[in-house]
Amino acid sequence: MSESIDVDAPTLSRYVMTKTRDTDLVILMSALATSFKLITSAVNRAGVAKLYGLAGEVNSTGDDQKKLDVMSNDMMINALVNSGVCSVLVSEENEEPIFVPENKAGKFCVAFDPLDGSSNIDCNVSVGTIFSVYEKAPGSKGTVDDLLKSGAHCVCAGYCAYSSAVELVFTFRGGSVEGFCLDPTIGEFVHTRLNMQFPADGGKKIFSCNEGNYNYWDKPIQDAVQEFKKGDKPYSARYVGSMVADIHRTLLYGGIYIYPADNKNKEGKLRCLYEGIPMAMIIEQAGGIASTGLFKGKVGRVLELTPDDIHCKCPIIMGGPRDIGIVYESYKANG
Ligand code: AHG
Ligand code: MN
Ligand code: MN
Ligand code: MN
Repeated sequence: MSESIDVDAPTLSRYVMTKTRDTDLVILMSALATSFKLITSAVNRAGVAKLYGLAGEVNSTGDDQKKLDVMSNDMMINALVNSGVCSVLVSEENEEPIFVPENKAGKFCVAFDPLDGSSNIDCNVSVGTIFSVYEKAPGSKGTVDDLLKSGAHCVCAGYCAYSSAVELVFTFRGGSVEGFCLDPTIGEFVHTRLNMQFPADGGKKIFSCNEGNYNYWDKPIQDAVQEFKKGDKPYSARYVGSMVADIHRTLLYGGIYIYPADNKNKEGKLRCLYEGIPMAMIIEQAGGIASTGLFKGKVGRVLELTPDDIHCKCPIIMGGPRDIGIVYESYKANG
């Protein structure tokens, strides 16, 4: 028999069942996986199916919606509403939360960015989906308060990267970070990366940020980025402009990812509930650091923030101690 044919596929459902014995969670993850497969198909066929370009609307955070933003959003909403295990959905593409009808409602509340990096879609650069999952409070019918909680309450966080391979990475609260690749020959996500760890030594010397915003940053961030470029062996700059791709690379190769607050955007750009918290949970549970930088008077963890609005934003500085240390030193040096 061929070595490449798996007679015992380590599928996503099998992993979730074995790990948690929670059938609702198995159903939730399989509904999410269904939407990721649908999004994969739409992204792959974008050129031939004429899915490039704008949908003509502006979303909750002021972005021009792409056709694929709208389509990916519909795919996720349809899969999650009909899963029978969700009560409240929050999406980047919907101003208001979505409440699941009572006859289909279940214990989870899910926040998601259906298509992250959608400005990259028309030139076929990697995009992704990001999600965070919460459980309804006991007795709650499902309200936004079930989601407006600090990252300590997030029960599951993850992303799916649509690229040369389609890869799903997620973690349960307090658990390890696990990676699954979509095997197109069987249409299943299979377990390919076990217990993913942020490189212990900080990994490759890479800094990742939109340096076009340099003049808007505060001095400590400007100085830290200058520091990365100094010396005989300066850091390499890598910035896709799709958070999923930039964080996936940072998790695998190391380095630092920065989207700080600046003079124009006092809270940064990235959205707390469906970009900041889930990515912070993955980076931290893989052994890295996810800081806000100086925000609201202190330098704290992204996971300690309690969102006050479903679409609120937060600054993000993620990496290992080697590189985050350079940013912290810069705050100290600048008083
Ligand atoms: P989205 O496409 O979901 O609106 O997210 C865009 C985000 C994120 O993907 C990316 O890292 C960042 O915006 C890029 O912002 P800049 O273009 O300002 O660098
Ligand atoms: Mn957007
Ligand atoms: Mn995004
Ligand atoms: Mn998006």
